[in-house]
Amino acid sequence: MQLAVVGSGYVGLVAGACFADLGHDVIVVDNDEKKLSALNRGEVPIHENFLPELLHRHRGAKLKFSDDLETAVRASSVVFVAVGTPPTEQGEADLSYVESVARSISSAINSYKIVVEKSTVPVYTSDWVRKIILRNGAECEEFDVASNPEFLREGTAVTDFLYPDRIVIGADTERCAAVLREVYAPLADGTYYLRPDAIPRPDRAQIPPPLIVTSAKSAELIKHASNAFLAMKISFINAVASICESVGADVQQVVQGIGTDTRIGPRFLNPGIGYGGSCFPKDLMAFRSVARECGYDFSLLDEVMRINEDQRQRFIRKVRSALWTLRGKKLGVLGLAFKGGTDDVRESPAILLIQSLLQEGCQISAFDPAAHDRAREVLNSNVRLAESAYDAASGADALLILTEWEEFAALDLKRLRAELKYPIVIDGRNLYDPVVMAAGGFTYYSVGRPASSPEPIPPAAVEPRTRKSTRS
Ligand code: UGA
Repeated sequence: MQLAVVGSGYVGLVAGACFADLGHDVIVVDNDEKKLSALNRGEVPIHENFLPELLHRHRGAKLKFSDDLETAVRASSVVFVAVGTPPTEQGEADLSYVESVARSISSAINSYKIVVEKSTVPVYTSDWVRKIILRNGAECEEFDVASNPEFLREGTAVTDFLYPDRIVIGADTERCAAVLREVYAPLADGTYYLRPDAIPRPDRAQIPPPLIVTSAKSAELIKHASNAFLAMKISFINAVASICESVGADVQQVVQGIGTDTRIGPRFLNPGIGYGGSCFPKDLMAFRSVARECGYDFSLLDEVMRINEDQRQRFIRKVRSALWTLRGKKLGVLGLAFKGGTDDVRESPAILLIQSLLQEGCQISAFDPAAHDRAREVLNSNVRLAESAYDAASGADALLILTEWEEFAALDLKRLRAELKYPIVIDGRNLYDPVVMAAGGFTYYSVGRPASSPEPIPPAAVEPRTRKSTRS
């Protein structure tokens, strides 16, 4: 099929490349000339496993890049809209890019088209897109509007797309649902997975994935509700971790105990310094606004957001209780990206923590395997970007682990200890076993577990147990 994908951000570019890998002819449209020429030159603008292979495989053949939206619409039977929906100051999703694309699509319609929302949008968006297209001259039988939310995670976006837990098609007519079923047929009927050149299957993949057809509104809600639920799981376990810290329990044992209940499941129960990224923070606020507009006070989401912010404050308190005063302290930091496996620093808890620590007068030397260029754009030049994890630790009063990169969980502990001025590690991602760290000569603090050390830790150095409400 001939498809157009509007927007070449994470979702648009990955979707475009994956649709081409499924055998479709795809035009990815963007109005950013610089990005288009980089893509046409063969550059890969984001750090994403398997994306370079797919772009190399299909660029110039099944996958083309263009700034001409109207020509792309005329040539295509399905147009996926994957433009940005950034938050407004009130926390709602700004849908002006979606509206502007809908207007341009309207004037280009020359035969039956399906316009598919791929960006994360509020529940009433499909109605509005339909109205805008009609208002700008298209006839109602010439098009359908559908919602086909994407559940890919940054860092594993290509495998998430090609090996999804489920495919959700929100279509209000059978004609529209049938066309979208055809788009995903190679995944839903399993033929893609038989190909020798298929992108390798990740662990846990269920093939073929179930394809769920819903109304457009239900599909829009599925996306917001999924992200809100996952964020709630993270905040829930972070709240439990705080209780563990107060009573001396071990949150990892609690996670094992509750995560093995198949009704709960172990995923997204990793405690840490809170969730970040371009999706959860924005989508929670947007979902909260949607609920408010519908007349429902979804205050549970406020609490999820509050716990998330509190988690960073608790971490700063932990650094302070390990080091006493912060002014002038030299800290090695591992991790800048909002999570491992990506170079994205948007709403990164690591960056937010570094900014707070700088305000406290700390000197920071940070290392991230992929995010230095992006971090440089947002961090003040006082932060030294180190050449390796060991370089970041060199001469530091303590080492902070802020992003869950796999390589940070496999450091040479002897070498690390030799680099640090004091062998103190404050791990915001629970990458190490406290017993192993103490045996390696470290005083080790993590999230929701008792601190460990070769020597008994004097009470003043342990994070204060507070009986105050966490609202304070
Ligand atoms: C998230 C969802 O997981 C995707 O399903 C969704 O498609 C995407 O948003 C989106 O809406 O586009 P993503 O933001 O790429 O994906 O990253 P996640 O892997 O979900 O991680 C988000 C944040 O939560 C990260 O900061 C991560 O470190 C944190 N996290 C995740 C935890 O603190 N604990 C966990 O157990 C899992």
